[in-house]
Amino acid sequence: MATALEAIAKRSSTRSYTDEALTETEVKTIVTAGLMAPTAANRQEVHFTVVKGDNPLLTELENEKNVLRGITAPAHNFYYEAPLVIMLSADKANHWGSLDAGIAVENMSLAAEDLGLGSLIIGCIYDAFRGDKREYFEKAFGFPEGWQYEIALAVGRKAAGKVPHTYDAEKLVNYL
Ligand SMILES: Cc1cc2nc3c(=O)[nH]c(=O)nc-3n(C[C@H](O)[C@H](O)[C@H](O)COP(=O)(O)O)c2cc1C
Repeated sequence: MATALEAIAKRSSTRSYTDEALTETEVKTIVTAGLMAPTAANRQEVHFTVVKGDNPLLTELENEKNVLRGITAPAHNFYYEAPLVIMLSADKANHWGSLDAGIAVENMSLAAEDLGLGSLIIGCIYDAFRGDKREYFEKAFGFPEGWQYEIALAVGRKAAGKVPHTYDAEKLVNYL
């Protein structure tokens, strides 16, 4: 098991996966990491929809995204053919819903890294979940009534690695 700092330092976005499915234990470990994330006032209003990569609903979502974005020949689907996608939804009425979901998705991404897996945080289907088919997708993915898509995580075994991103601490940090 990596330390939290090791997992943070090693994590980077994975955009190439093998076909191998995750084990039940791996899936449970990742989802539990999401459930363990802090939420504002401990309201715990983040819902996790666990979807296998071959679920036709993901293709419907992919098609809707492409229609809305005018993409005719996508090079890959939005989750890069990962074997698992986890959709996070939150209560529309909760001011902190997006932030809570963001914290949970990073917890899960770091858990995946700790398990030696790759993951990708996915925002690009936001429009597809806010368009004309919004209600249809919210129901189809089993979001609780009145909750909306916030963010998703693709997870699988890395077929190709990527070095973690660099950053400009001089520009982005000040110390008083
Ligand atoms: C809120 C959010 C949404 C993102 N949405 C996408 C996405 O839709 N597709 C994608 O390929 N990467 C997406 N990413 C991944 C970022 O592009 C990636 O984290 C960034 O380029 C830094 O690279 P790294 O994750 O390898 O450090 C998203 C990341 C975040 C935090």
